[in-house]
Amino acid sequence: MTDKGASAAASPEARLFVAQAREVLQELAVLIRNAAIHDLSNEVFREPLRNLEATLRDIFKTERSFRLQVVGQEFFANRTRIRMEIRTLHTYKFVWQELERRSLGGFQFDTPLEIDDLASFLVVFMAQASHDEDGAPEFNRALAGSGLTGVEALSPLDEAGQPLPEEQILDRRRRAIDAYQQALDFIRETVVELDSPAQVNLRRAKRAVQRLVDMSYEEGDGFSMIGLASIKDHDDYTFNHMVNVCVLAIAFGHRLGLPRPQLADLGLSALYHDLGKLQIPLEVLRSHGPLTDEQWALIGNHTVFGALALFPMLAANPETLPRILVALQHHYGYDRSGYPDIQILKRQLLHSRIVAICDGFDAMTTKRVYQRRFLPDEALAIIHKAAGGRYDPLLVKAFINCMGIFPPGSTVQLATGELGVVVEPNRDPDRVHQPIVKVLVDLESDTPEAMSVDLSQADQQARQILRCVDPADYGINSCHYAV
Ligand SMILES: [Fe+2]
Ligand SMILES: [Fe+2]
Repeated sequence: MTDKGASAAASPEARLFVAQAREVLQELAVLIRNAAIHDLSNEVFREPLRNLEATLRDIFKTERSFRLQVVGQEFFANRTRIRMEIRTLHTYKFVWQELERRSLGGFQFDTPLEIDDLASFLVVFMAQASHDEDGAPEFNRALAGSGLTGVEALSPLDEAGQPLPEEQILDRRRRAIDAYQQALDFIRETVVELDSPAQVNLRRAKRAVQRLVDMSYEEGDGFSMIGLASIKDHDDYTFNHMVNVCVLAIAFGHRLGLPRPQLADLGLSALYHDLGKLQIPLEVLRSHGPLTDEQWALIGNHTVFGALALFPMLAANPETLPRILVALQHHYGYDRSGYPDIQILKRQLLHSRIVAICDGFDAMTTKRVYQRRFLPDEALAIIHKAAGGRYDPLLVKAFINCMGIFPPGSTVQLATGELGVVVEPNRDPDRVHQPIVKVLVDLESDTPEAMSVDLSQADQQARQILRCVDPADYGINSCHYAV
């Protein structure tokens, strides 16, 4: 598990979340201390139970679930490390020891519990036998016995830096792919409904984007989520592309420190950016022969079509305006050399400039009818070259910093001859060439096994990255490993 604390400090929402998690720890400490000496009917429980209920309710206003977990000797809340503070050190230590005594690693809350449920939870906690080897399963059986749902105990993890247990990785992967699929389904269904553009289902789109924003926060800084954008489907290029640009823009915006509501807005603009392409006949989009001038002009007009499709929503939702502008401006260029040539566009909005870079990156790294697929490092080099021209130079710099030399999702060849898929960039600026990689074992198999390796570790020096390769050359589906 990596420390996401540093980047979390950049966002006020993340800071608030850490403060709330600290409160939960303090409230748990008070409750456990009192429960050791008083009967649960005692007055002393009323206020701390009420406080804990309120804090959990606040957390669930922005989080879909709340996982409080000890790793080594530290607490993590939804994968964000809760840094120790001297004044509360004794509280952390106390809760940590009480969990350890019961062989528990923490708790996962799936709903905010009511006061009565929290009281039952405390009863089960206090009744848990000390040093029971089977701590968490035993605890969860007792919870089930008391009819309590929405919370479960977690088994202890060994030490900080240990990989997440398999089921957690699978759970994260499943939820990431679910969130991606939800956004993709929305786009697919929109194409059917688009006869009536006003019907673009804003609520559904918001829900899909919100899940991706949640995932991004859960990851701490969001950048391990961008492996999702390596999901490419040549036939359904436009659909996947809109979701990929949405994923990339949310991750990038998060790293830029955009506040949460703005991030959701950016995600929505990114999801809609090529809405106009859904109105272009598929035979033109998928044409294998050379396109006529009229066909190119039609494709070029997707910016205007997209803006027009969104326009009817403006009266009911004034916040549609930036989305309209992103649809209209994303090919306009930082230097205003792109299209459409409309004078009133003046300068691209920040969201348009962000979407333009993510759009360029995803478009280049996907095989198209009229274009070979660029490897991720090649695409970054092309974007770098266009800094100050097509793209905002400051944002290009930030994008390359976030992506590292080998962006998540890249398939790479190692000096050992092995193949790997990059899953997370190294945040140490001196070690950007040594990301976390899933090394593929037994390439003969249809779905090779993969093991996660941090290339910056001393014992991994032999596994240095030689170059990016095209996964198709090796018959590998890189997105299977990239999340
Ligand atoms: Fe576009
Ligand atoms: Fe696009």
